[in-house]
Amino acid sequence: MNPLARFHEDRARARAERDPCAELCALATVNAEGAPEVRTLVLRDIEDPSAPGGEPHIAVFINDSSPKWATMGRVSALAYFPALKVQYRLSCATTPVAEPLVHSRWQDRPEAPKKMDWYYARRPQSSTIPSRHQLIEEVSSLALPEPLAAPQSARGLYLVPFAIERLDLNQPDGIHDRRRWRRREPSSSGRGERTKSVVAATTSEGASESSWKEAVLVP
Ligand SMILES: Cc1cc2nc3c(=O)[nH]c(=O)nc-3n(C[C@H](O)[C@H](O)[C@H](O)COP(=O)(O)O)c2cc1C
Repeated sequence: MNPLARFHEDRARARAERDPCAELCALATVNAEGAPEVRTLVLRDIEDPSAPGGEPHIAVFINDSSPKWATMGRVSALAYFPALKVQYRLSCATTPVAEPLVHSRWQDRPEAPKKMDWYYARRPQSSTIPSRHQLIEEVSSLALPEPLAAPQSARGLYLVPFAIERLDLNQPDGIHDRRRWRRREPSSSGRGERTKSVVAATTSEGASESSWKEAVLVP
């Protein structure tokens, strides 16, 4: 089976079970010093009208003021769905979500994160500030554009998996089922140059089960 289709199917099953983890991933990067960093991010489905069957792509939305932005050319995403007892590990290249799409999705965000995206121009995300009190004061005195639109720093990145591992703990014999699928890693140019064609390639490759090589792993 196409592992991306399987991933979307498992997420749909987790959502049906009201699993709060269905919407999240832990995203790992390696920082400029070579140290691993991991954080929780919302994993978003982006329907791609150009894909066969309007296949959803997965993307994360972040602010480019964060130091993580510069390190996100290649990432590892982990999703665990407790309702299913299924874990996924995705090794991914990334490619930008088109700005108009980021900006329209940004409008759906709650008010506070919207404000924060503008505030990051004053103080970058993950920088230090003397106190929470000062943070609240500065955010509440922030002048926002009218009509409210996303700042340039609001970004979206598609996650383009080249290796997918699925671990299913829910086996009647107690022996976990662990499989890995690999396909050719997209050639990495700068993030700016990695265009929609990577996503387009994913779509066609993703649709073809033969491009993924499956291996059963000792769990
Ligand atoms: C449930 C949950 C969802 C989150 N979703 C996002 C998200 O979609 N985008 C984001 O930039 N940070 C999100 N965060 C915050 C990140 O985990 C992290 O704290 C923030 O991005 C700063 O990380 P950094 O220092 O690595 O840049 C989320 C945190 C939690 C707990």
